[in-house]
Amino acid sequence: MNFANKLYIVTGAAVDSDIGLAICQSLDEKGARLILVGRRAEALETTLSLLKNKHHKISVFDLSQLDSIAAWAKLLVDDYGAIDGLVHSASFQGYSPLRGITAKQISQYFDVNFSAAVMLVSAFSKAKHFNPNASFVMIGSAAGLRGLKARTLYAASKAALSSMVQSAALELANKSIRVNCVAPAVVDGAKAEIQFKTLGEAQTKLLISSHPLGLSTPKDVANSVCFLLSTLSAKTTGVTLPVDGGFLAG
Ligand SMILES: NC(=O)c1ccc[n+]([C@@H]2O[C@H](COP(=O)([O-])OP(=O)(O)OC[C@H]3O[C@@H](n4cnc5c(N)ncnc54)[C@H](OP(=O)(O)O)[C@@H]3O)[C@@H](O)[C@H]2O)c1
Repeated sequence: MNFANKLYIVTGAAVDSDIGLAICQSLDEKGARLILVGRRAEALETTLSLLKNKHHKISVFDLSQLDSIAAWAKLLVDDYGAIDGLVHSASFQGYSPLRGITAKQISQYFDVNFSAAVMLVSAFSKAKHFNPNASFVMIGSAAGLRGLKARTLYAASKAALSSMVQSAALELANKSIRVNCVAPAVVDGAKAEIQFKTLGEAQTKLLISSHPLGLSTPKDVANSVCFLLSTLSAKTTGVTLPVDGGFLAG
């Protein structure tokens, strides 16, 4: 895989996002130019400092400002040129037991995980915003492909993402834009540690054992993202690719 002279947008690229960072590092190693997106400049600058190449840019932007996404996308294209693809890794994560759900919570999960993804795909599929054979990759979740207690909102927002890539893939095929989703289960890293503390020892053992190949690493997720961005997957569109250590097979 060689991404030299290719330009990609990566949302959720803050240094404290294990997966976003791994995606940036993998694309950087393969020569891509990146625009790193998040709300905290410092966290993006730190990611930047960990990358080998110095030709990357950052863009501080709040993706929950859904009505501003199209104008912001145009500014990026005016400044840096048409993109070869995007990776939407930014997310709102957490637990939402049914007894306490509020309308605000529903917006929090759906705005970033789903609605921002739709607005990004809409904006960057406009004429002159993308280069030939562009590839858009959404980071979904295994939670969107099966039920999980206390995860109703997160899971539903990721299920919506998996549905969106199917319809978008059909609609954008005539522009030769591919749209896919990568769906990790529990990924080794900071988020998993928080989850394990909440669950306690016995439940944690059970959760880990439900991944027969073991937990995926952020690098495993990044490898699948690179595959879907690359020409190796030239005829793959509208799919959700689990990177789940076998979690969904059981
Ligand atoms: N970690 C896991 O075990 C796991 C498992 C399955 C799926 N996933 C998915 O993998 C992706 C990455 O997960 P992660 O745990 O590494 O990172 P994460 O903490 O879920 O989020 C990544 C980044 O998104 C950015 N973000 C959040 N709201 C935003 C907004 N309104 N506008 C712009 N940026 C925003 C945050 O940076 P700022 O605060 O700087 O904006 C945050 O650092 C997510 O889509 C997640 O749902 C993760």
